[in-house]
Amino acid sequence: MVDISSLLHAGYHNPVLRPLQAERTLTKGSLMYPIFITDEKDSLIPIPSMPNQYRIGVNRLEAIIAPLVAKGLRAVMLFGVPNDSVKDEFGTAADDPEGPVIQAIKLLKAKFSELLVSCDVCLCEYTSHGHCGHLYPDHTIDNEASVRRLAEVAVNYAKAGADNVAPSDMMDGRMLAIKKGLKDAGLSHRVSLMAYSAKYASALYGPFRDAACSGAKFGDRSAYQLPPASRGLGRRAITRDVSEGADIIMVKPATFYLDIIRDAKELAPDHPIAAYQVSGEYAMLHHAAAAGVFDLKTAVLENIACLQRAGCNLILTYFTPELLDWIE
Ligand code: PBG
Ligand code: ZN
Repeated sequence: MVDISSLLHAGYHNPVLRPLQAERTLTKGSLMYPIFITDEKDSLIPIPSMPNQYRIGVNRLEAIIAPLVAKGLRAVMLFGVPNDSVKDEFGTAADDPEGPVIQAIKLLKAKFSELLVSCDVCLCEYTSHGHCGHLYPDHTIDNEASVRRLAEVAVNYAKAGADNVAPSDMMDGRMLAIKKGLKDAGLSHRVSLMAYSAKYASALYGPFRDAACSGAKFGDRSAYQLPPASRGLGRRAITRDVSEGADIIMVKPATFYLDIIRDAKELAPDHPIAAYQVSGEYAMLHHAAAAGVFDLKTAVLENIACLQRAGCNLILTYFTPELLDWIE
C-alpha cells in the first residue's frame, strides 16, 4: 500500500493544472532578441553559422523589426558589425556616431518608441586584435584603460537613446565605472545596466564570433572570461556586480550553466536574472532538429522552460521570432 503523500499524478494529470506547476510562465515580455547590425547600410546578409539570422543594415532594420513588434516583441540587444578597415588597437569605432550601433539606436527609438533598446557594450567587434579590452604590449589586459573606454562607450550609447547597456567584456570594475558615468551624464534614472556577470569562456560563442567578425587574432579570452568549471568565480562576480550597481544580472551561456542561473537567483534575489541562450546553443538546437533528434519547437520550449525553472526572468534568445509565434 502506497502512502497518501506518494500520489503525485493527480496534480498534473489535467492539462489545465500542468502550467500551474511552473514558478514562472513564459511571456513575450520575458524575451530579448539579439540582432547584428552591419555598417553596410543597405545589406541583409544571412549568417551561415546561424540559421535564419542576418547581419542587418540600418536601412533594412525597420522592415525586419516592425512585424516582430506587431507580434509583441518588447526588447532587442544590438551588436555592431563594423568593417575591418575601421578597427584599431583601442576600439575607437565602437561609439562612432555614424557607426552601426548608434545609427540603429536612433532609428529604432524613432520608429518604435516603446521597444526597449539594449546595447551590448564591448570592444572586441572594434579592436584590430579582437580582444574585449585594451592590451599591454605583452598582450595582457590593461584593465584600467579598458574600463575607462567601456564606460565612455556605454555613456555614448545611452546619450544616443539606448534604454539599457550591457557590458559583455568581463573587465573588473566596469559596472561601477559605467553606473557612475551614467550618473554624471544625468542618465542614470532612465538607462538600466545589465551585467554579463557570470560570463564563461565557452566554446558556444563560435557562431557569434563568425557573425560579428569578433574572434581574437591571437590568444583567447580565458584571462577575463570565467573558467567553465568554476562555480565560485561566478558567484563572486554576481555578488560584485550587484554591489557595483547592476540593475539586472545575467548568466551566459545558459543551458550548460543552469546551476549558475540558480546561484544568481539566490545571490541576487531582489534583482531580475537574465540568461543568454548563446549562438552555439541556438545552432545546436537547429542542427539536432535537422538531424531528426527532436522536434525543434518542442525542444526549444522545453529548453526555455528549464531556464525559467533555474531562476531567470529574462531570456536572450535568437529564437525570439519563433517564440513570438509559439507563445499565445
Ligand atoms: C562579445 C560578446 C560575445 C557574445 C556576446 N557578446 C562573444 C564573445 O565573448 O566572444 C556571445 C553571444 C553568442 O554567442 O550568442 N564580448
Ligand atoms: Zn567582447
